[in-house]
Amino acid sequence: MKNLISIDQFSAREIFEKIIPGCIRMIPGARKAQSGRYKLPDFRERKLTIFSVEPSTRTIDSYMEASGLLGWSDHRTPPPDNTSLMKNESWAETARTWAIQGAGVIAMRTKIEGVQKFLAEILERDGFNVSIQNCGDGEHEHPSQTFLDLVTIKQEKGRLKNLVIGFLGDLRFGRTVHSLVKALSLAPNISLRLVSTREMTLPEYYLKNFKGEVRCGEEMELLADCDVIYATRIQAERFPSEVQYAIEKAKAKYRLDEEALSLFKADAIVMHPLPHANGISPKAILDKRVVVHKQSWYGIPTRMYLLNRGYANRFKKESLGRVFQGKLKIVREENLKDYLKKRRKKKNHTRFGRIDNGTVIDHLPLDFGAKIRNILEKSGFLNEKSATQTNEDVPSTSMGRKDVLVLENVFLTNEMMISIASFAPGSTFNVIGKGRFRKLVLDKTGSIEEIGKCPNMNCITNHDPEAFTKFIPLGGGNIECHYCERKFKNSEII
Ligand code: NCD
Repeated sequence: MKNLISIDQFSAREIFEKIIPGCIRMIPGARKAQSGRYKLPDFRERKLTIFSVEPSTRTIDSYMEASGLLGWSDHRTPPPDNTSLMKNESWAETARTWAIQGAGVIAMRTKIEGVQKFLAEILERDGFNVSIQNCGDGEHEHPSQTFLDLVTIKQEKGRLKNLVIGFLGDLRFGRTVHSLVKALSLAPNISLRLVSTREMTLPEYYLKNFKGEVRCGEEMELLADCDVIYATRIQAERFPSEVQYAIEKAKAKYRLDEEALSLFKADAIVMHPLPHANGISPKAILDKRVVVHKQSWYGIPTRMYLLNRGYANRFKKESLGRVFQGKLKIVREENLKDYLKKRRKKKNHTRFGRIDNGTVIDHLPLDFGAKIRNILEKSGFLNEKSATQTNEDVPSTSMGRKDVLVLENVFLTNEMMISIASFAPGSTFNVIGKGRFRKLVLDKTGSIEEIGKCPNMNCITNHDPEAFTKFIPLGGGNIECHYCERKFKNSEII
């Protein structure tokens, strides 16, 4: 691990055999160092930069405490209103500046999703040796919280397998739940109980790799057989204001008081990422099953481990997310003269406008012609010399109806052709020029880059001029944003 961006980065082995035991090994040192009985080696030249756009009491402060105990110097950046982000400086430029100022690790919490992944990639590309750690990005993920949650379960229940784990509250916007469910999908024999109101259910996507039993419901009785109950705060700030009634209803319904606790097993533990914001009654918090303050303390040794790991690996190259290197293949190639001679004899060719130099994108699905043309214009492939013709809704033997884009004097890069063909499967490219005619088709699907716009307005690609869109094709006309990980129909992005 160099960066800590999302639980998707890790295998079961890495989490359960390396990271969690590593965090647990930090516990005695953290305890002794905090009580002043022990001084860990001083590494003042190691520098942590911490930045938070959203409020934080535990995550950011425990990163500071962890770095202090490790003998690092830390630098908490001013509130976002006092940074040059307010003067429209980009995220990429801001992070480059922190790296120039000597940060070995940058821990950051943002409202925008995918910022940390984007910065980790761009800083590595630019040759900065920095570990980026995600302290929460919008409603997406909060992976360091997951590690401290797993440490808590291991310490308090003695195992990270054969458990019934219940989640309660706002499972839709609770990013700690999203990351923890992903990690539990890698643990053996876990059953889940998901208790929430209709408006706050867990997005299905987070369960995609979960193999155990899942029971969902609105009533807390569903938690009666749980070994671990993970309660969450209703994330009122992320809901549209029209559903205020639903927020108030859920807050009242899921408040943990003595009566609620009486439903749980005698040896269950009750966890909460905090703040509970009056979601746990003053009496209930004294119940010995409620381990929320221990859990919060485990954030310190956990982050000590994560800081050391990130710092030690900061020179490494790390690929974040699935690598989708697409490929094209040439299915026809001939001398241009021969091609033109044959073409002259074919009558139906006139329909699409003949060119002797340039690219014809054929077999585009209906409606895609004009849209792809716009994209090419925006990304600078078309200029005043390029005459284009968009043939919409024309007959096709293989597709019924299709769009065809004729681009005179225009040549696309392989990357762009791969992106277009991965986005619009079946499309073909006739490339006419330099004395050759070549027909290219997709051989291997690749990621779809610099095409369209992520419909999630909270995604980094809508907030930084250097963050170009990148979508991963999922098949069946579905795609996933590489940065915010939301799923869309491919027609939704153009
Ligand atoms: C949570 C967060 O910010 O995601 N808290 C935390 O980091 N421990 C939960 C919340 O805000 O409700």
